[in-house]
Amino acid sequence: MTGASGMGLATAKIMGKSHYVIISGRTISKLQNAVNELQEAGIKVEAIACDISDRASVEKLAARANEVGKVTAVIHAAGMSPHMGTGEMPLRVNALGAIYVNEVFSKVMGDKSCILDVSSISAYLLLLMLSRKKFIRKVIKM
Ligand SMILES: NC(=O)c1ccc[n+]([C@@H]2O[C@H](COP(=O)([O-])OP(=O)(O)OC[C@H]3O[C@@H](n4cnc5c(N)ncnc54)[C@H](OP(=O)(O)O)[C@@H]3O)[C@@H](O)[C@H]2O)c1
Repeated sequence: MTGASGMGLATAKIMGKSHYVIISGRTISKLQNAVNELQEAGIKVEAIACDISDRASVEKLAARANEVGKVTAVIHAAGMSPHMGTGEMPLRVNALGAIYVNEVFSKVMGDKSCILDVSSISAYLLLLMLSRKKFIRKVIKM
């Protein structure tokens, strides 16, 4: 489970009924509340610090997951809205992070396993806005 606050935590509560769960985020101390909540619900869980915008960090997470057992499900819910970071950061986390998680985990996962990526419509809206601007500029020039 990448991202363990909103959707990540909600999904961990469901997945944890039938799976050992590893939750992750950049700051281990921030994951402690989620660990407590999941353990209180009888879920076997551990927390690992991982920055998804760093491939080496994702590789460490995947290695640990693979050590614990067969990796059958990855819920990639870590991400940030554009207003939560400046410059290239949201792009690095949302775009590169998704690529790293999918590439790295697919190497340790076998048949009948699944990676679920949680995204945001804002990624498409940005492209739509940019393409429309180009279209509008073309129309004005005509
Ligand atoms: N909630 C919505 O209504 C909604 C709607 C559409 C799409 N989405 C998208 O769905 C995803 C999950 O949403 P959410 O509401 O669950 O978000 P959230 O509560 O803000 O949780 C995002 C999680 O991502 C982690 N994270 C951020 N940057 C990271 C990084 N570089 N490496 C590892 N973990 C990182 C955060 O933990 P740390 O800060 O501790 O690293 C946090 O636990 C996001 O991509 C969001 O944009 C959400």
